[in-house]
Amino acid sequence: MSAKPIAIASDHAGFDLKAILKEELQKMGFEVLDLGTDGTESVDYPDFADAVAQAFQRGDVERGVLVCGSGLGISMAANRHPELRAAPCHDAEWARLARQHNDANVLALGARLIEVDAAKACLKTFLETPFEGGRHARRVQKLSAR
Ligand code: RB5
Repeated sequence: MSAKPIAIASDHAGFDLKAILKEELQKMGFEVLDLGTDGTESVDYPDFADAVAQAFQRGDVERGVLVCGSGLGISMAANRHPELRAAPCHDAEWARLARQHNDANVLALGARLIEVDAAKACLKTFLETPFEGGRHARRVQKLSAR
């Protein structure tokens, strides 16, 4: 894992879970780049996926965490950016596979659908699991070629 900060961002629906995960990341020893939102006032999730994409493009981060109500909209927005591979995850097994097989670099979570402990387990697994490479590398390269 790189020593770069971890980017984190959410919309209003994900704000509370973002705060919990931010603290969790800090406890794990990571520097956190919090790109908002900064409260529960209604905002648009694509703006926060775009902010994380810009941090990747600048080379400031190599991993990100995005939270919205379902984890769906914000991962769709993230995956419009070719350098991001965002995986909506619902438990640690999804996070493990997202890393091992898909080399996911962004974890997407649905705050309205996941328990806090499961979200923390996804986060830990996402950060600790290496990409397996091999046959998966060829497939991930094909994603990048689009
Ligand atoms: C916001 O109400 C909600 O639509 C958003 O957080 C997300 O779930 C969209 O995919």
